[in-house]
Amino acid sequence: MAIDLERRDDGIAIITINRPEALNAFTSADLESLLATVKAVGALRSIRVVILTGAGERSFVAGADIKEMANKSTEEGRQFGVLGHSVANSLEAIPQPVIAAVNGFAFGGGCELALASQIRIASENAQFAQPEVSLGIPPGWGGSQRLPHLIGPGLAAEMIFTGRRVKADEALRIGLVNAVYPIADLMPQAIALAGQIAKNSPRAVAASKQLIRRSLDGNVARGLEAEIEALAQAFSSEDQREGMTAFVEKRQAVFTGK
Ligand code: CAA
Repeated sequence: MAIDLERRDDGIAIITINRPEALNAFTSADLESLLATVKAVGALRSIRVVILTGAGERSFVAGADIKEMANKSTEEGRQFGVLGHSVANSLEAIPQPVIAAVNGFAFGGGCELALASQIRIASENAQFAQPEVSLGIPPGWGGSQRLPHLIGPGLAAEMIFTGRRVKADEALRIGLVNAVYPIADLMPQAIALAGQIAKNSPRAVAASKQLIRRSLDGNVARGLEAEIEALAQAFSSEDQREGMTAFVEKRQAVFTGK
C-alpha cells in the first residue's frame, strides 16, 4: 500500500489510502505508514486541516486485512489492536482537524478511522459497517466506544451486533456523516469545508478540537474547567489579538497560529 500525502499551498493536506487492489484494506505495515504520515503532518505548522480519503471510487477502507489477521495469536491480536488504536488516536491527537471523505466502503477498521476523524462527509455510494462479529471478533480499532458516542448506544449496538451495511442516506439520517454528495463532488466539497476551517485561528481550532475530544471522556465538569483554561490561554495568543483587532478594524484576520 501507499499512503499518499498531498500538501497544498492553502494549508490543506490530503492523505489518500492507496491499495485499491484490496479495496484499501490495512495490513500492519500499512497502519505503521499511516501512523507515521499522520504524525508527520501533525507536526507541520503550515498544515491547518487534514482530509483522509481512499483511492478510487469504490472504497474508503475495507477494514483490517483479513488475510493477515486470520492466523494471529492472542498476543499478535493485541499488538494489532494497539497499533490500530494508535492510528485512530493520532487522528484525534494532532492539532489539525481531520475530515474523512468517505468514498465508498468504510467497513470495520475503515469505519473506525472515519469515526476517529472529527468530521465525516460521504459520497452517495458510501456504505458503513462494523462487520467484525461476522468474522468472530468484536470491533478492534475504537468502534465499540466512538460509534455509540456518535449515533447513540442503541443504533450502535444494532450496527455492531448485526454487522449490517448502512448506506449513505441512512448514515446522514442517523448522524454518522454530516453530508452526502455525488462522488465527483466529494473531494471539492471536502476541500471547500477544509478551506472554511483553514481561514480561522489554527490555535483556537486546535484548542476547540481537544476540548471536543475531551467530551468523549464523559466528565463534563472537568471538560468545562478545561474550556475555561483554554479560553484564558487564548488571551495570551497573537491569534486572539489579530482576530479581535481585525473585527474592530473591519478587515479579514490573518492568523499565524501563534
Ligand atoms: N482484507 C483483505 N482483503 C480484502 C478486504 C479485507 N478487509 N476487503 C477486500 N479485500 C480484497 C478481496 O480479498 C479481494 O482480493 P482478491 O481479488 O485478491 O480476492 C479484493 O479486495 C476485492 O474484494 P472483493 O472481490 O471481495 O470485492 P467485492 O466488490 O465483491 O466486495 C466487499 C467488496 C463487500 C468490501 C468485500 O470485499 C468485503 O466484505 N470485504 C471485507 C470487509 C470486512 O469485513 N471488513 C472488516 C474487516 S475486520 C476489521 O476491520 C477489524 C477491526 O476492527 C480492526
